[in-house]
Amino acid sequence: MYRSYSVILILILGLGLLTWAASMVVNQTIRGWFERDMALRAQLAVSGARMALIFCWRQGNQEEIRKLLTAITHDDRIMAAAACDANLSVVSKTADFPDQISLVEIGHRVRPMANSPPEEWKEWQSIADLSGGKVHVSAIPLFDDRTPLGFVALIHDMSYIDRREARTQQFLLIAFAVLAVAASVVTLIVAKLSWKGWTREIRRLLRGGVPIFQAGSKRAEFHPLLRDVRDLVEQISADKEMDGHGGAWTPQRLKQTLSHNLEGERIIIVANREPYIHQRDSDGRVTILNPASGLVTALEPVMRACSGVWIAHGSGSADRENSDSCGRLRVPPGEESYLLRRIWLSPEEEKGYYYGFANEGLWPLCHIAHNRPVFRSEDWKHYLAVNQKFADAVCEEASGEDPIILMQDYHFALAPYILRERLPHATIITFWHIPWPNSESFGICPWRQELLQGLLGSSIMGFHTRFHCNNFIEAVDRFLESRIDREEIAVIHKKRKTLVRPYPISVEWPNRLISGLPSQVECRAAVLKELNLNPDALIGVGVDRLDYTKGIEERFLAIERLLERFPDFRERFTFIQLAAPSRSAIERYRQLDESVQRLADRINSRFAGNNYRPIVLLRAHHGHPIIFRYYRAANLCYVSSLHDGMNLVAKEFVSARDDEKGVLVLSQFTGASRELTEALIVNPYDLEQASEALANALSMPPLEQQDRMRAMRSLLSHFNVYRWAGRMLIDAAQLRKQERLSGRLVHRFEGTELVT
Ligand code: G6P
Repeated sequence: MYRSYSVILILILGLGLLTWAASMVVNQTIRGWFERDMALRAQLAVSGARMALIFCWRQGNQEEIRKLLTAITHDDRIMAAAACDANLSVVSKTADFPDQISLVEIGHRVRPMANSPPEEWKEWQSIADLSGGKVHVSAIPLFDDRTPLGFVALIHDMSYIDRREARTQQFLLIAFAVLAVAASVVTLIVAKLSWKGWTREIRRLLRGGVPIFQAGSKRAEFHPLLRDVRDLVEQISADKEMDGHGGAWTPQRLKQTLSHNLEGERIIIVANREPYIHQRDSDGRVTILNPASGLVTALEPVMRACSGVWIAHGSGSADRENSDSCGRLRVPPGEESYLLRRIWLSPEEEKGYYYGFANEGLWPLCHIAHNRPVFRSEDWKHYLAVNQKFADAVCEEASGEDPIILMQDYHFALAPYILRERLPHATIITFWHIPWPNSESFGICPWRQELLQGLLGSSIMGFHTRFHCNNFIEAVDRFLESRIDREEIAVIHKKRKTLVRPYPISVEWPNRLISGLPSQVECRAAVLKELNLNPDALIGVGVDRLDYTKGIEERFLAIERLLERFPDFRERFTFIQLAAPSRSAIERYRQLDESVQRLADRINSRFAGNNYRPIVLLRAHHGHPIIFRYYRAANLCYVSSLHDGMNLVAKEFVSARDDEKGVLVLSQFTGASRELTEALIVNPYDLEQASEALANALSMPPLEQQDRMRAMRSLLSHFNVYRWAGRMLIDAAQLRKQERLSGRLVHRFEGTELVT
C-alpha cells in the first residue's frame, strides 16, 4: 500500500509537470495565431477603406481622412489609427492614438530610405508595451497606382488575448485535476486488487492447500516472492516440528532423537583432531590436553550425549601407551561415555596429508586470507592414502550395512566416496567446518574434480551458511558432470543424490564448562592480580590458535589505533591475547608466530609507562578453565577473523557471560556474525572502524551491554550444538526412511515382474 501512495504521488507530480509544459506550448501557439489574425484584420480594414482614402488623400482632405480612420476604429479590437504621408508627416490620426508610439519610427520601417522605390515599401508589425498593457502595432503602405502616398498605422488592443490565455490555463488546470483524481483512483483500485490477490495467494500457501507453483498458476509475477515465503514457512514449520516435541535442545533430547528416529544406531564420527591428547612433557609426566579446535569444542558434547565412536588421528606423544592394541580407549577420562579410536600415521603420512595437502593446500584455498595454497602431488598421494586408512577404520567400527557416519572437515574430502563404494547403504553426513570458496578460487586446485566427486559420496553435505552451500553447488555445476536439483537443493551425481544443507554449528548450552567456575567478580579479581593490573583496568580478550586467518595482526593494529585516537584509554585498557601455537611445522605459521610477537612488542614499547603494556600476549596452550576465566573477566572480546566458517570463540564468550555483561566485537567475515547480530560487527581490515567499535564497547552503558548480551544468549540457548546435531540426524533419519522405502519398492517391482 505504501508503494501505491508513492506511485500516486509520482503520477500527480508527473501530470502537474506535463500540464505546465502543455500550457506553455498552448499559450505560445494561441498567441502566434492571434498575432497573425490581427495582421490580417489590419490588412482587411485598410483595404476596405483604400479607395476612399486614396481619393481623399489626392484632394488633401484631412478631415475626411480622419473620419475614415475613425470608421476603421469602430472595430472593437482596433483602438486607434493614423495616416502619414511619404515624408513621414502625420496626415491625420484618431484622437486616442497613443503618444508613446512614434509614427516617424514606424515610417522608417515601412519606407527604409527617403527615396526608396515602391517595391522597397513593406508592411510592418510589432508588439508595444504601453502603460495600459500590450498593443499590436501594424503599418500598411498606401499606393496610388504605383506612387507611394504614405502608410496607415493601426493599434490593436491585446488585452483580450491575455484574458483568453488565462481562461485556457484554467481549463487545463481543471483537466489536470480531473485526470489526477482519475489516475489516483485507478492506481488505488489496481493496488488494492493486487494486494488482495497477493494476500489470497499467501493465505492459500500458508494453509498449505494449493500448489501455487504449478504450471498455469495465474500470478506468475509473485512467484519469486512466494517461493521465498514458502521456503521460510517450511523452515519455520520444520523448526517447530523439531522444537515442538520436548522444548529446548538438551543432551537428553538429542539422545531421544537418536533412539526414536534412528533406532539408537551407533554414530561414527570421523575427525582428524582427537578430543583428548595424551602428551608426555619434558619431565616425563603424561598430561591430557583438550586441543584448541572449534570442531572438537562442538563435537565433544554431542558425543557425550550420543555415545558411539570417534575416529581420529592419534597425535599425542603418549597416545599409544594409553590406548589398546587397536588404538581404542573410552573417554572422557573419568566420565567414560564414548569410544575414541586412534589412527596411527607415519611422519611421512602426517607431513603429506595433514601439514601438506590439508593445511598448505585446502586450508588457504578455502579461506580468503591472501595466503597462496601449495599443491604437491606427493601430498595428494598421502591425502588419498590416509583417507583410505580412515575409511578402513570406519568399516571396522561399523556394526551393520547401513551405519550413520559423520565425516568432519577438509581432512576427509575423499573418504565419503571410498565409503560409499564399500558401504552403499551407509548414511554419510559430511560437515565442512571451514568456508567453501567461490568456484573461481576453488578451480585452481589441480584435484578439484576428485575432491568434489569424493564429497558427493555423502548423503548430506553440510556447511555453516547457505552462502557456502551455494558456492559448493556452483563449483559442482562448473566442474563436474552432474545434475543440480535447485528445488530440493541437492546434487545428483552418478545416479546418487547428495542433499546440500546449512547447519550453523554452535556451543553446548547450558555450558558445562562454566558450572564449576568462580563468579565474574572473582574471575576479574584473579586476572587483575595475575597480570598486576589496576583495579579500574579495562580488559579485552582474544582467544585463538595462532593462525593467519584469525586476523591477530589486524586486531593488534586496531588496538594501537584505539590508543592513538582515544588517549583516555592509555594505561587503562589491556588486551589479553591467548594464542595457542598451531601447525608450527609449517613455515607460514612460524612466520606468523614471530610477526605477532614483534608487533605486540612494538605496540607495547610505544605505549609503555608505569608498568603498563597494552597487549599481553600469552603464547601457550590454555585449558578451558583458564580460557573461561578470561572470558568472564573481560569488558570485551574481539574476534577479528579475516575469514571463518563460524568461529565458536564468539559463541563461547557469550555462553560464558551469565552476568549479561561484556561486549562482543565481531568480524563481519565470520559465520557467527550472521547470527550474533547484537555484537558490534566490524570489518577487521578497517582499523578506523574497528578502533571505534572497541572504544564504543569500552564505554557502553551496562544496560545496553545487558540488552545485547541477553539477546545473544537467548539465541544460543535455542540454537545450541544439540540442535545442530539433532537437525542433521533428523534429516539423516528422513533420508534413511526414504531410501529404505525406495529399496522396498524396487524389491516389490522385481517380484511383480517375476510373477508376470
Ligand atoms: C579448524 C578446523 C578444525 C581443526 C581446528 C584446529 O577449526 O576446522 O578441523 O581441528 O581448526 O586445527 P588443528 O589443525 O590443530 O586440528
